[in-house]
Amino acid sequence: MEMHKVRMVQPLNLLPVEERVKVSQEAGNNTFLFKNRDVFLDMLTDSGVNAMSQAQYAAMMNADDSYAGSETFYRLEEALKEVFGTPYFLPTHQGRACENIISQTFIKPGQSVLMNYHFTTTKAHIMRNGGKVIEIIKKEGLETTSELPFKGDLDLDTLRQEIKTAGAENIAFLRIEAGTNLIGGQPVSMANMREAVKIAKDAGILTVFDASLLSDNLYFIKVREKEFADKMPVNKCLNDITLELGKLFDITYFSARKLGCARGGGIITNREDLYNAMIGLVPLYEGFLTYGGMSVREMEALAVGLRESLDFHVVEQTPIFVEAFVRELLAAKLPVVTPAGGLGCHVNAMEFCDHLPRELYRAGALAVALFIASGVRGMERGTVSEERNADGSERFAEMELLRLAVPRRVFSLSQIKYAADRLVWLHENRHLIGGLKFTFEPKILRFFFGKLEPVSDWPQKLAEKFRKDFGDSL
Ligand SMILES: Cc1ncc(COP(=O)(O)O)c(C=O)c1O
Repeated sequence: MEMHKVRMVQPLNLLPVEERVKVSQEAGNNTFLFKNRDVFLDMLTDSGVNAMSQAQYAAMMNADDSYAGSETFYRLEEALKEVFGTPYFLPTHQGRACENIISQTFIKPGQSVLMNYHFTTTKAHIMRNGGKVIEIIKKEGLETTSELPFKGDLDLDTLRQEIKTAGAENIAFLRIEAGTNLIGGQPVSMANMREAVKIAKDAGILTVFDASLLSDNLYFIKVREKEFADKMPVNKCLNDITLELGKLFDITYFSARKLGCARGGGIITNREDLYNAMIGLVPLYEGFLTYGGMSVREMEALAVGLRESLDFHVVEQTPIFVEAFVRELLAAKLPVVTPAGGLGCHVNAMEFCDHLPRELYRAGALAVALFIASGVRGMERGTVSEERNADGSERFAEMELLRLAVPRRVFSLSQIKYAADRLVWLHENRHLIGGLKFTFEPKILRFFFGKLEPVSDWPQKLAEKFRKDFGDSL
């Protein structure tokens, strides 16, 4: 049940289906390039679009505008100490800026970075700095349907083996991402993180924690991990978990567009030597040390948002809505990632569009088709989100997912049901979904601004079928 009420609203616009075909074409059939005014439900991401609380908005008025030594910085630093127990804090403009700083500081060309699973920007920064990504996620993490409650867990035997094979000196750091974005917002257990970090530390390897999706992960640790199930009061238990994580890892970083429901980012650590190693890159790339490219108003909102991330009623919002979404789709036998994770509902496009060759980008095509069928904007998380191999051949993603993000406290349950209904209709008509091909393909992070076109007039055919079935309805 929602333990909040809505006091400010933004009207939405639902274009007729024929218009939806047109705007998709104009945006190069890439949902990142859509204008938000053309979108009905924006399920692209939770990044920077979570609903903020009245306390966050109120705190923004308290911001101290100064280039250096702002009170706002010290308030945020204090909040981080309270939540993670870490004394050193480097502010950045968002999560990928932390990845830039960490990768530049700690990766020597030729070294590997071990991780449960990559995130797009993380991998790009590691590779630009001459590093190599080695993923050591448990095999269930890459299976779309599974019973494993923590599909983001690392395979500890593989971790030991990789350290032995590569040699600790050739490993820049171990990175754990919890929750794990690209495999469907799947959580990592505290038990697994403790073990993995111990293995790395025993080998003298630096440990880095990506806490961008920690809110959802906290929920899953609390409700799915036996050790924490009975620990009360619940909010103190959440804080105990974050404090343990802050102590466990050498470095923690986060996108505050996700964690803390504001806009910005940060790197925190207990180690003065690591702080000193990174400090120079903050004024170079971000801004002075007491704002790091963030607006002081956002920093005030973040300080409040971080504390609110320890409130179970706030933390549970996305996971329980995702679960409701997944349940609706499972009832209609649609292929979705299970168990339900955080972040959003992840539709398995590999199976949904199994009539399409992989070269025609199943998840990308499904994202376009869903927009035509509903005005819902999702995000391709499959082969389009990968980069080509050095020889120019396509690198097929291990999973072809359409992510329908459920930003915190933004959508109503009836909107979730609407998205599910249209997906069910689309599934019944999936044979009408055709493929896409690139017309403009950037070399780096092509999914952000690449353009594609349909390989036939399938979007028009899909819209015609929509009209036939839905009549005048939008
Ligand atoms: C796990 C993870 N790490 C890093 C990032 C990058 O953060 P940002 O978008 O703020 O640059 C994201 C963003 O989605 C993420 O989900």
